[in-house]
Amino acid sequence: MRTIEMIDGVVKMIDQRKLPRQFEIVECRDYRALADAIKDMTIRGAPAIGAAAAFGLALAARESRAPTRDALLRDLDAAEKILRATRPTAVNLMWALDRMMRAARATNLDADGLRDFVVAEAQQIAEEDVAINRAMARNGAALINDGDSVLTHCNAGPLATVDVGTALGVIIEAHKQGKKIHVFVDETRPRLQGARLTAWELMQHGVPMTLIADNASGYYMRRGKIQKCFVGSDRVAANGDVANKIGTYKTAVVARENGIPFYAVMPTSTIDLTLANGDLIEIEERDAREVTHIEGVPIAPEGVRVGNPAFDVTPHKYITALVTERGVVVPPFAENLRKITG
Ligand code: MRU
Repeated sequence: MRTIEMIDGVVKMIDQRKLPRQFEIVECRDYRALADAIKDMTIRGAPAIGAAAAFGLALAARESRAPTRDALLRDLDAAEKILRATRPTAVNLMWALDRMMRAARATNLDADGLRDFVVAEAQQIAEEDVAINRAMARNGAALINDGDSVLTHCNAGPLATVDVGTALGVIIEAHKQGKKIHVFVDETRPRLQGARLTAWELMQHGVPMTLIADNASGYYMRRGKIQKCFVGSDRVAANGDVANKIGTYKTAVVARENGIPFYAVMPTSTIDLTLANGDLIEIEERDAREVTHIEGVPIAPEGVRVGNPAFDVTPHKYITALVTERGVVVPPFAENLRKITG
């Protein structure tokens, strides 16, 4: 099934907290439950939480008993605020909410018409995400040569989107095209999205891979075992700085040191031209328990002070190119991002 879908008024999503041990579907019947699912990372990954937020508004529209269009818009505004506050870094969430509210306000429909419209717009965002990911996969796969070994960080696969994926979509597409590739997967502490999700997805697709501790990537790069790096992104600033899962920056610096191209893959909805550079991107700080515990088991002394930024920013000078559904963007990013986003 898809990572997330809405069927007969119920939003169903794969519970990403339980993989790979259990494959479970969570059902959200109201927008507050959906907001909680984004917060607790039942669903995660930039495009996936964008689609989830859109479905959240669809649920809010169906829940609302507002008799008039204006009253319904007020209910949607209230739900939008709660959904917007779930996670701060991935701009796809805000992008989807902005698009939904703009589209809703632009109609002249009565309350019932508007309810149906909001549900249809959310479905449209989810459908578009799949098509966009397919286009990114094709554009990015052209950068991978037969025989390449590539490194990826975090999870940028089908689970991080509605389907197909960003960086992992590119890698899976190259494999499908018959290229003999090998993938090094960073485990991605603290939440282990690489070990739990990316490794699982690659094995489902039969892509040859090696799971490594995050600390090991420099070792393999220096020994010439990795030819390219592909990561996703949660937000790209106007100058091409890339926010992505914590550890991406360190990986990009080591890649540069070793002359290895570093590609970030994202839909154009991840590009935020309102921010001049990556230092302006809000970085989510998450619960200390993600660092002090693994699967509920403590691995650090009780009461230890912890820092847990969920993302970091890779300055654009370390990025070889940005792969989008509209094509591959090369430096100078400030100029070329404006061109590609129209
Ligand atoms: O905290 P997460 O798991 O939502 O972080 C996800 C990532 O950092 C991904 O690499 C990113 O969303 C881009 S790929 C869709």
